[in-house]
Amino acid sequence: MGDVIVVRDLVKRFNDRVEVLNGLAFSIAAGDFVAVYGKSGCGKTSLLNILGGLDRPTSGHVSIEGEDIVDMSEDDLARLRLNKVGFVFQDYNLLNNLTVRENIEMPLKFSGKADGDRVDYLQEIFGIGHVSNDTANRISGGEAQRTAIARAMMNEPSIILADEPTGNLDDENAENVMEMFQLARREFGTTIVLATHDSQLAKHASRAMHLRDGKINDETQR
Ligand SMILES: Nc1ncnc2c1ncn2[C@@H]1O[C@H](COP(=O)(O)OP(=O)(O)O)[C@@H](O)[C@H]1O
Ligand SMILES: [Mg+2]
Repeated sequence: MGDVIVVRDLVKRFNDRVEVLNGLAFSIAAGDFVAVYGKSGCGKTSLLNILGGLDRPTSGHVSIEGEDIVDMSEDDLARLRLNKVGFVFQDYNLLNNLTVRENIEMPLKFSGKADGDRVDYLQEIFGIGHVSNDTANRISGGEAQRTAIARAMMNEPSIILADEPTGNLDDENAENVMEMFQLARREFGTTIVLATHDSQLAKHASRAMHLRDGKINDETQR
C-alpha cells in the first residue's frame, strides 16, 4: 500500500514567534501505527491539527491520500475531517448527557449515513457493549476513551489522529487503549498517528518519531 500522509518542508509559526515546526518531512504508509513523541510544547498538537485539517501550516506541503490539503477550501477540509479522519483527544470530548451509543452514532448525523450494525460491532470489539445505554458521565475513563475511539471509527476513516489519548488514564487503561489502536489497525487497516509526551508509550507503536526543536529528531522502526 502507498503513503496515506505525505509531509514536506512543513513550517508552523504562531504570530511572530520562532518556528514550532521547522521543516518537517516524512511519509506515513497506509495501515501504519506511528507515535510522535516529544516533551510538552514541542509541537505535537500543532502537527496533528495540521494533519487533520484543523489548522493550516505557515508553509509547506501536506497531502492526505494523495490530496493536497494545504490549499483546500474550508468546505473540503470539513469533508476531509468528516470522512477520512477520526480524532481522539486526551479528555475524550464526549457529550456527557448522551449515552455511549448516542455518542458513537454522533458522526452519522453529519455524514447522513445510518449504520446501527456498525455501532453494535464497534461497541463489541472495543468492549463497551455493557455500558451502551449509560450516559457518558457515568462510565469510567477507560470506557470513555474506548467510546471516543469507537466514535472516531464510525465513518470508517482512513486515519485516526490521537492526541495524548492516555493522558488521563492509569497504566492499565492506558495499555488497554493502546491495544484498541492496534485492534483498529488490524481489523480495519486504519492508519494511526498518536501524539504523546511519553517515550515509553511510543514503544507500543510500530514506528516512533521524536519531535524536537521543530524537527523530527530520530526515528525507530519496529
Ligand atoms: N494557537 C496558538 N497560538 C500561539 N501559540 C501556540 C498556539 N498553539 C500552540 N502554540 C505554541 O506552540 C508550541 C507548541 O505547542 P503544541 O503544539 O501544543 O505542543 P505539544 O502538543 O507538543 O505540547 C508551544 O510553545 C505553544 O505555546
Ligand atoms: Mg499537545
